[in-house]
Amino acid sequence: MIFVDACFGKKTPYSPVWMMRQAGRYLPEYMEVRAQAGDFLSLCKDPQKACEVTLQPVDILGVDAAILFSDILVVPLEMGMELKFLQGEGPVFSHPIKDQKDLDKLSVQKAVDGLEYVYETIRLIRGRLAADKALIGFCGAPWTLATYMIEGQGTKTYATVKKLIYTNPQFMHALLKKVTEVLKLYMERQIQSGANVVMVFDSWAAALEESAYFEFSWSYMKEISSYLKSKYPHVPVILFPKGISGYLDKIDGDFDVFAVDWSTPIELAQQKLGYKYVLQGNMEPTRLYSQDAIDEGIEHIVSVMKNKRHIFNLGHGILPDVPVENAKYFIKQVQKLTKI
Ligand code: CP3
Repeated sequence: MIFVDACFGKKTPYSPVWMMRQAGRYLPEYMEVRAQAGDFLSLCKDPQKACEVTLQPVDILGVDAAILFSDILVVPLEMGMELKFLQGEGPVFSHPIKDQKDLDKLSVQKAVDGLEYVYETIRLIRGRLAADKALIGFCGAPWTLATYMIEGQGTKTYATVKKLIYTNPQFMHALLKKVTEVLKLYMERQIQSGANVVMVFDSWAAALEESAYFEFSWSYMKEISSYLKSKYPHVPVILFPKGISGYLDKIDGDFDVFAVDWSTPIELAQQKLGYKYVLQGNMEPTRLYSQDAIDEGIEHIVSVMKNKRHIFNLGHGILPDVPVENAKYFIKQVQKLTKI
């Protein structure tokens, strides 16, 4: 698989390419299957339909990897928390975690077993996906999940979760530890079910100052990747801490690919981390609104990363109103312009 080879830094005929949120609302075919399922969560829990939407961008756009269709928040959901996706508002947990008593009610094993619909989706996808295309499994970082579990929803200030960091760090660590235990086993089960690569999304990394980031987030990301690399060395691990360009000097650990978000200059990431990790990224996703902007964005990344170890991607998710033609154009242009 060219994608797996690239994750390990091997030479490939061109830079493989996929897009965050490639199975999503910009595709009319996705909207149709989501409507049949009823809503987003029902779609995640229906292996046949989740398999179908996972494969859509592979067939329609010709991306080099499929990413499992699911969501990072199914983990706290199956640990026992009530989750709703409200139209226009995003995800909401109706009863956020407040104290140790709430935490004690959440179960590690119940979550790992309750996520069976994800493992079944992976088995179905791997059965239908072309043999030369990789399937990426994923989870959210413990810090990003803990933020949702405590705040209950997206937040501008992170006040509730950050108050805990500075007033009750022991409790914060207890929560992070429990989530990390689930994630290690969850990622392991995804690999056993057929995921060829795994990725950890730390979407709220940039909420923390440097010392807090390494204590409350990166240490747990590293724990998950070390666990997986020690047991499954043939499965590449991609880590995506979003928005921490100021902390790159301190990034270390046993993983294969560092995913670069769009706000981090690719030359900075190359200079600081390119010698020890393969880089993935980092085209600004809103460039997809214009084909000229796409060409310009690709050209810049190629000028920095040509003949270096690199996987093409957006620096965050594709937006729902991007024209499908432009998404197709992006994938085609990358595959053409990075040919060696
Ligand atoms: O990339 C893919 O194609 C795979 C599927 C995927 C989804 N969510 C599907 C989804 C992946 C990898 C995720 C990860 C995820 N989910 C993250 C980390 C990456 C990131 O975006 O930073 C986060 C923070 C979430 C939580 C989440 N899920 C939010 C905040 C929202 C609402 C925001 C929005 O874009 O609407 C979701 C919903 C969601 N997850 C959608 C999709 C396709 C849209 C739901 C819909 O169809 O209405």
